[in-house]
Amino acid sequence: MTTTDTRAAARARPDYRDAGLVFEPSFLIGSATAAYQIEGAVDADGRGPSIWDTFSATPGAITNGDTGAVADDHYNRLEADLDLMASLGLEAYRFSISWPRIQARGEGPANERGLAFYSRLVDGLIARGIRPIATLYHWDLPQALEDQGGWTNRQTAYRFAEYARIVGAALGDRVAVWTTLNEPWCSAFLGYGSGAHAPGRTDPAAALHAVHHLNLAHGLAMAALRSTVRTDATFSVTLNFHVLRGEDASSPEARRRIDALANRSFTGPMLHGSYPDDLLRDTAGITDWSFVLPGDAEIIHQPLDFLGVNYYSTATVRMWDGVSDRQRADGHKDVGGSPWPGSEHVEFLVQDPPYTAMGWNIAPEGLEDLLVALSDEFPGLPLMITENGAAFADEVVDGRVRDAARLDYLRRHFTAAHRAIQRGVDLRGYLVWSLLDNFEWGYGYSKRFGIVHVDYDTQQRTVKDSGHWLARLIGDHRIPE
Ligand code: FCB
Repeated sequence: MTTTDTRAAARARPDYRDAGLVFEPSFLIGSATAAYQIEGAVDADGRGPSIWDTFSATPGAITNGDTGAVADDHYNRLEADLDLMASLGLEAYRFSISWPRIQARGEGPANERGLAFYSRLVDGLIARGIRPIATLYHWDLPQALEDQGGWTNRQTAYRFAEYARIVGAALGDRVAVWTTLNEPWCSAFLGYGSGAHAPGRTDPAAALHAVHHLNLAHGLAMAALRSTVRTDATFSVTLNFHVLRGEDASSPEARRRIDALANRSFTGPMLHGSYPDDLLRDTAGITDWSFVLPGDAEIIHQPLDFLGVNYYSTATVRMWDGVSDRQRADGHKDVGGSPWPGSEHVEFLVQDPPYTAMGWNIAPEGLEDLLVALSDEFPGLPLMITENGAAFADEVVDGRVRDAARLDYLRRHFTAAHRAIQRGVDLRGYLVWSLLDNFEWGYGYSKRFGIVHVDYDTQQRTVKDSGHWLARLIGDHRIPE
């Protein structure tokens, strides 16, 4: 630690409500969204249906029967939303590309009208000095591919590589930062295990097949992108790490099991070159993993330029005693199926408040610990926070949204990020989830994560207090006093 660092540490507040901390000019601060959550215009310009269109049309799947059909109508309001981003001073904007806009059925030639939208988006960002960070897959699989088995079908990984090549060829002269997948854990375990996410399947073996085909898709897409995009491009994947706590005598075993399923089933093959032995053992009653073919490990194990980290809260686990009511507070919507194949006897305990509107506990120290742990495990691999933020029930009153709780959440997590940097973590940036209130998957429009409020009747945008605060933070590169 330098002398300045020591002084900062001495001033550090135990509750992470620090002010005045400074981020290097090169530290990228911005915001993030995902295609299905904001775009709407689901039938426009040759877009085909995705699994989220199908799922959200399924009675009972989404709170209030909401769908992404209109969402924030971002597809039709692109220019105004770009101006909004510029008005906040965003340095980077992480968006996702909707696969069914590019290939309506997930294969075949590119749909030029779909590509044109993202081309306009990228040009609009660059013209405003905002760095585009493109994610290829944020959960909206073309329905036609799901009809052929979706992520349980190995062919989907090859289709994904073709899609990556198309997008790389079209945008790769301008987009320099690429992310293959967003949170493949959710795609596999919520999509095929618990059934809380599209396609809503509840089959433990299917979830594990999906894990592998998503990993394979990542590896194949990296290679496809590398061959099409500009030479100074950087490549990444975004994972949602489960930060595990637990004081019980059985917690170490519970943590090991959940860490294997939640975290190491992706970091193992992507970053260490193989699936962890204990994951294979824990799930041996469900599958023998014979869908992992010779050569797959090499395809998946690609060099990354940075690792995208999504963090919201912690989870506290122990082994269930088999007698008491099993606690299931894992933070994911409980719709019956299990997102923890082979480890259903792990309990997720209700954690201490405060909570966000998602019921997620607010734990900035979890972010600091996670960043330090990742940097210890993967020395030399830079990190970027690709999502962090909070849902609260916001209201516009006299043209203003006083979202003090979100501002406080962000301040504490920016403090945590700063502390991780002080402890030697190579953290390259921080993208707040989310720019706009949007379609929060199974919860529909009932949860607002935006730093900008959206009135879904009028599509009026109102920058919340947290958005103004973030704009100040970006302007000064300093956590406002
Ligand atoms: C993450 C998703 C993102 C958003 C936030 C709240 O799991 O990547 O789309 O829903 O959670």
